[in-house]
Amino acid sequence: NEGSLWGGRFSSGPSPELQALSRSTHFDWQLTPYDLAGSRAHANALHRAGLLTDGDHAELLRGLSVLGERYAADDLLAAESDEDVHGALERLLLEEVGPEVGGRLRAGRSRNDQVATLFRAYLRDHARTIAGLVLDLVDVLEHQAAAHLDVIMPGRTHLQHAQPVLLSHHLLAHAWPLVRDVERLRDWDVRVASDSPYGSGALAGQTLGLDPEAVAAELGFSGSSANSIDGTASRDFAAEFAFVTAQIGVDLSRLAEEVILWTTREFDFAKLHDSWSTGSSIMPQKKNPDIAELARGKSGRLIGNLAGLMATLKGLPLAYNRDLQEDKEPLFDSVQTLEVLLPAVSGMVATLTFNGPRMTDLAPQGFSLATDVAEWLVREGVPFRDAHELAGACVRRCEELGCDLPDLTDEQLAEISPALTSEVRAVLTVEGSVSSRSGRGGTAPDRVREQLDELRAAGAGH
Ligand code: ARG
Repeated sequence: NEGSLWGGRFSSGPSPELQALSRSTHFDWQLTPYDLAGSRAHANALHRAGLLTDGDHAELLRGLSVLGERYAADDLLAAESDEDVHGALERLLLEEVGPEVGGRLRAGRSRNDQVATLFRAYLRDHARTIAGLVLDLVDVLEHQAAAHLDVIMPGRTHLQHAQPVLLSHHLLAHAWPLVRDVERLRDWDVRVASDSPYGSGALAGQTLGLDPEAVAAELGFSGSSANSIDGTASRDFAAEFAFVTAQIGVDLSRLAEEVILWTTREFDFAKLHDSWSTGSSIMPQKKNPDIAELARGKSGRLIGNLAGLMATLKGLPLAYNRDLQEDKEPLFDSVQTLEVLLPAVSGMVATLTFNGPRMTDLAPQGFSLATDVAEWLVREGVPFRDAHELAGACVRRCEELGCDLPDLTDEQLAEISPALTSEVRAVLTVEGSVSSRSGRGGTAPDRVREQLDELRAAGAGH
């Protein structure tokens, strides 16, 4: 059983079937730089504890840096017999520095505390990358919003015309959830940073006088695990990360769904740039919103990764169980999915052109100014229940006459109620309607300009 991580008590090596099932190097190889950094910090801890001579310490560091260079040069390969990245790197280190020196590194650590630390470090790096890509999209939405402050569109609830809003207001409503996603990643990072499991050993801690706090600091963590069982057995950090990526996916999907609707012939609110849309192999006229559709589709996959991991964790007894190895593939997939998806969505939104006249033209249709009539009556002293009835009567009259609210004559308004004087016409335009929604968070142009500043400040804070 030459070269394996255990051997002493076994009389035969693992069966090929076990090896095939057990092997994870095809996906965990990307943890190599994190594993080597962990090994460096661990070698330093062993040295400080007096368990490595100066010479052996220097030789181990040399060996680790050779492996790092070979990995960067794509010249480091796992063998068929390697179970995981940790075992493979130990084998390769032994080959580099010899079994006598190389064999000293494993003292006081286990693959259980190793992998729990490295996976955190990997996710922390990618949390930063993903947050940057999300902020790029926030930036794109903010620029589109700033460029279209003059466009009024039909705001919808239940997908029905509800009240006119600024296109900018609507676009910013897609930006704020993304800002919160970035905040979630930051909150998550603070929690994970304080919990470096290196030093937890297999589950119960180590006996060699190593300093986990120093190892944590060297790996960029703010502290080490308070409980070695928790440090090696918990994966809530991975589930939480998977949730944030799933939420980002859902936020992208909702934006994508609107792009898909807006670029239909029926809506005709927006057009996709040629470089950010696709054609059809049979229908020469087609221009398809594939980026938006892939965003919508991949959100399902991100949710699946979260759900799958939660199912894996449910019911696991403490401490480490091999089931935990199933944490990696879904998370690697969520990270890679978002890192490819986000730049594409940003490019699509940045190059989207809007049909402002059509949006503004449709904005008052479907009696979307009825609430404005009711609220105007309230400002004139009419109780809201009555005002709601009267505005509803206006809509009914319009339906009888086949016209829209602004088309009602002064006489027709007065017939419905003497309270409905010609002054009500001030709110019977979409411009009047949006300007009057001037409370904080409202769609009035001045408020939306303020909101843009608020969003820029929130984005700059990250
Ligand atoms: N490849 C394993 C994982 O990802 C590392 C830990 C293995 N530990 C063990 N005792 N088999 O979880």
